[in-house]
Amino acid sequence: MLCFRTGMPRENIVLIGFMGSGKSAIGRRISSRLGFQFIDTDQLIIERTGIPISEIFVTQGEAAFRDLETTVLGTLTHLDRCVVATGGGVVLREENCVLLHQIGLVIGLTASEEVLYNRVSRNTKRPLLQTEDPRETLRQLLEQRLPIYEAAADITIDTSHLSHEEALEAIVIEARYAFAWHRDV
Ligand code: S3P
Repeated sequence: MLCFRTGMPRENIVLIGFMGSGKSAIGRRISSRLGFQFIDTDQLIIERTGIPISEIFVTQGEAAFRDLETTVLGTLTHLDRCVVATGGGVVLREENCVLLHQIGLVIGLTASEEVLYNRVSRNTKRPLLQTEDPRETLRQLLEQRLPIYEAAADITIDTSHLSHEEALEAIVIEARYAFAWHRDV
């Protein structure tokens, strides 16, 4: 983590990471394990606009989508006991990174390029990978973003070789420590 955290985080878990790193799938599991509410920022944007993410990219452009991301994050800073899964590009704006740390404990999920590619290949809707060579696009985006995720996260967990259950356990251990929970969860 670079310089975003001041003091103890609010009792929320924020998941950041590249497309396919498991933010939504693992986030849902954490929320049911801890009894926290699950929030997905992409989903909030869809609800707010009534437009699918891929269509926002095509009709309004990436910058407009990033504005929506910032607006939506700003509505989450007062919450408690939530798990927030974010879109893979949320860290690209520094103001978002500040907001993420206001929301809660920021956990970065990472995985190898190969694992990420295998996971994202199952879903062909991701607008940034609609290119002639999605594998190369993924490689380039990952190379650009890895240091940003690393700097933005309080803690980073590599999920390449973890099941969702194992990743969940690793995150719960970190949360117990970060929030000084004395109860068993
Ligand atoms: C994006 C990731 C997507 C979504 C949008 C942009 C990105 O979310 O927010 O397509 O810039 O990496 P997921 O990480 O959930 O796929």
